Amino acid sequence: MTSVLVLNGPNLNLLGTRQPEVYGSATLAMVEDACRAHAAKIGFEIACLQSNHEGALIDAIHDAKGRHQGIVLNAGAYTHTSIALMDALISVEIPAVEVHLSNIHARETFRHTSYIAKASLGQICGFGTQGYLLALDALAAHLKATGAA
Ligand code: DQA
Repeated sequence: MTSVLVLNGPNLNLLGTRQPEVYGSATLAMVEDACRAHAAKIGFEIACLQSNHEGALIDAIHDAKGRHQGIVLNAGAYTHTSIALMDALISVEIPAVEVHLSNIHARETFRHTSYIAKASLGQICGFGTQGYLLALDALAAHLKATGAA
């Protein structure tokens, strides 16, 4: 079965209580449950992981090689700073979709830059939890089109 890694970065463990006016009221567990339910519907297996540490996120991307056919990544603030995460995605050559709960382009200018976008199929932002499900659909379409699923 096609397997996808849903990877969340720093501070996303605080979802539900962290700036709910920006990020919504769903907790990370609720987001991951929604991903699992959607994945089951579209015939994906998923693994969910969150870390506040850049190196752990890089390790998770490396470990995805040979295990997962796609990655859904919300790298949190590392999106805007981490060349290392971008390089990790490029190195493993696993199709990735970048997700943000908030519309990063409608926020501070420092959030408009994404290193992750340079290594992703595309970016989905501004749709809250739904964005993760849209990302799973985008990966499903991509993997089908490329014969990888
Ligand atoms: C975020 C947007 C980032 O700018 C921010 O640092 C986050 C969350 C989002 O999901 O909207 O931590 O990735």
